[in-house]
Formats: sequence, structure tokens, C-alpha cells
Amino acid sequence: MQPEVLVVGAGMIVHDQLLPSLYHMQRQGRIGTISICAQHGRSIETLRAASGLAEAFPGQSFRGYPGAGHADQPQPELFREIIAHLAPGNIVVAAVPDQLHFDVIITALQAGQHVCAVKPLVLRHAQAMQIAEEAWRRGLAVGVEYHKRFDDRSLLARRKYREGLLGEFRLGTACLLEKWYYRGSNFQNWMTCDNSDAFTYIGCHYVDLVHFITGLLPAAVSVYGIAEPFPNGREGYLWTDARVIWNNGACLNVQNALGFPDAAPGTNTQGLVMYCKGATDGALLSHSDQYRGLKYCYTRQSDAPGATVYAEPSPDYFQYVDLGGPGLVPVGYGYRSVEYIVQACIRVAAAGEPAARQRILRELDDVGLMATPRNSSYNERVIEAARESILAGGKTVEIRAAE
Ligand SMILES: NC(=O)c1ccc[n+]([C@@H]2O[C@H](COP(=O)([O-])OP(=O)(O)OC[C@H]3O[C@@H](n4cnc5c(N)ncnc54)[C@H](O)[C@@H]3O)[C@@H](O)[C@H]2O)c1
Repeated sequence: MQPEVLVVGAGMIVHDQLLPSLYHMQRQGRIGTISICAQHGRSIETLRAASGLAEAFPGQSFRGYPGAGHADQPQPELFREIIAHLAPGNIVVAAVPDQLHFDVIITALQAGQHVCAVKPLVLRHAQAMQIAEEAWRRGLAVGVEYHKRFDDRSLLARRKYREGLLGEFRLGTACLLEKWYYRGSNFQNWMTCDNSDAFTYIGCHYVDLVHFITGLLPAAVSVYGIAEPFPNGREGYLWTDARVIWNNGACLNVQNALGFPDAAPGTNTQGLVMYCKGATDGALLSHSDQYRGLKYCYTRQSDAPGATVYAEPSPDYFQYVDLGGPGLVPVGYGYRSVEYIVQACIRVAAAGEPAARQRILRELDDVGLMATPRNSSYNERVIEAARESILAGGKTVEIRAAE
């Protein structure tokens, strides 16, 4: 029988990537019922009314909690009840704001569920270790959805680097700036100085990617942040500049912000350049991650948030294509990443006894394609150090002995 999937959270990432990926797997007969639990009923209603989802997945739906009639009354504890009603061995997708991931993930594991968590897994290294321990003991899979890993260019870079063709990483620069209009979204309620910052929220992708490509581990971090008010008056570090020193002495600079102009083409600007050292010459990796070569000038501006008349869409992250219907098919590394993690959960669940499940968990940790609490816990060390650094005005924070 196919596993049921419960998504906790019903915001942007659920609409843009998680739910369509799950709907597609459901359409293929690989997963069963999909349920979604949010804090407010209005988030559920917004997802139900989303025209893009209805067009791509005609006839498909999900069970929503809170149900009708609870639009504005917050129910932050409801997910516990919904998880408790799920039979063990199913899948929980944690898609709530960063600072709530731990609570949702540990609740799911204690109820015997496999987990797919949006990045960053958690904000503290000790929490990642607690999750790793709990999951191992119970023979449960936990995959962290760092979808850039499933971009073919990342997989290609990893292979070339590990073959020695790109030498040894020395200096690098990465950026990921989201559009200005993000400031007006629900982010203003949680991406505040006390919870997160632009580096913690988005910079972690490139820290994870540099490890994914090179196998190096971060050794020290400093993050300079500029705090500014969101439209609701709460302050966030909306511009950040981070320096990550790696265990071979290499240095990666990462710039992040909610500040890319709304009128600019593309949904953001992002990319990675790595300057490397070969035996007798330099080596170079340069990825433009928002500009994938497409230039479209439409006849009109669509209603989608951030839409522009002139656009440079990425065909590689997440798009819908028409392969003859019914509906549309999601394509791109956003889909492949969710599929890989959910499929890993299904594989572990099907292995039966805890010892057999642990054998697969060990293999997933070692292969290292899917980020797991154990094989990607350097991300939590970086986040922990980054939060300490940014709150102290950008001081350098050493990362204690990495595993
Ligand atoms: N590139 C990426 O990998 C990527 C992109 C976007 C978001 N994310 C991550 O996804 C998470 C959510 O981001 P988002 O953009 O969807 O945010 P969002 O603010 O749009 O949505 C958050 C959702 O969480 C729900 N929620 C909050 N508290 C809850 C509770 N106690 N119980 C149940 N639901 C609760 C809210 O109802 C809302 O639906 C964040 O951790 C973010 O870092 C990852």
C-alpha cells in the first residue's frame, strides 16, 4: 500500500514546489492520501483556491486542517493531533518557518513517521544530532530538501571536482538575492532578527552546495547583516554578507538579501564562482544559477507575484509542461529533489525490520546525495555560528570539531 503524506505548513514553498511534486507522485500511484495542516484555515483555503494547481492536477485534492470555519483562529498545536492520528510508517513533510522545524520533525519521528524537511533542517547542531539519534534508533528516514543538489549542474560539478578536474577550491563567491516584494509576504512575521536572517534563510543553499561539490567542511564563519524594518515594522537582517572559511583554508563569500529589484527579470539573482588550484595552473567553476539562457518578452504582465513583462525564466528549477494531459507535469530539480526524498522514505519503510531499515539509512548517509541530519550537520554548525556572528556585529566564530 502507498504511504500517506502529511504536510505541516501551507505557505509559499508548499504551493510552489512541495504540493505539486506530491500530487505528481500521487498521480503516478506512488503515494496515497495527501493531508496538509497549517496554523490558520485561511492558508488551507488559499491553497485549495490556487488556480495553477487546479489546472495542473485536475481532480486531485488534499485533506486540509484546520477545516472550514477556522479561517483566522490560529491553531499552532493542531499538527501534533494530526500527526498522532497518522499510522506509523507514513511520511511527514515539515514546511513551517525555520524556527519551528525541530518541533515538527521530532514530533513526527516520535510518532514513527519518516520525514522530508525543508532546509535548513534546524537552527542548532545539538537539535540535528537529536533528530539523527531519534531517527536512527527507530529506523526512520529523514531527508533535508536542499534541492540545488538535484540540479544537474551541481551533480556534474561534484563529479568533475571529485575526479580532480577542478583542482582544489581556494576562493569563491556566491550570491542569492530574492526579490524586494518578499518583504511584504508572511516572511515579515518570522524572518525577523531574533529568528533568522538572509544568510540563514537562503545562504545555507550555497554552503551546502560547496560541501556537496567538494566534500570540504566549514571551519569558521562571520556574517555582517544590515537590519531594516519589514512593512509591518518588525526588523530583519535583510542584507547579509558572509565569509565561510573551509577546513583546507579556502574562503567562500556569500551575499544574500531580500532586495533584488522587483522589475528585474528572473525570480531572483543567484550563482556560484569557485576559483581553484590545479597542479600547474588555476581551475574555475562558474555557474549562473538564475540565468539559464531564456529571454521572453510577453504580451502582458501576469498576475503572479513578482511577474515582469520581460522575463528570464529558469526551465531547470520548477516548471509545468504539457505532455498530453490530463493536467500538466512538474519538471525540474525542485521536483526531482522531493521525489528522491519521498522515494527514499518509501524504500526505507518497505525494508521491514528496524535493522534492515538501518542498513538503508547507513547507505543513504554514505552515498550523500540526499542531505540527512547526520551527513549534513555541518549546515547546523554554520547556522549556529552565523547567528552568533551576526548578532555580535560580524565577529568570526570558529566551528568546533566537525564530524
Ligand atoms: N529554496 C528553498 O529550499 C526554500 C524556499 C522557500 C522556503 N523554504 C523553507 O520552507 C519553510 C517555509 O517557508 P515558506 O516560504 O513556505 O513560508 P511561509 O511563511 O509562506 O509559510 C509558512 C507556513 O507555515 C505555517 N505554520 C506556521 N506555524 C505553524 C504551526 N504551528 N503549525 C502548522 N503550520 C504552521 C503557516 O500557516 C504557513 O502556511 C521555511 O523553513 C523556509 O526556509 C525553503
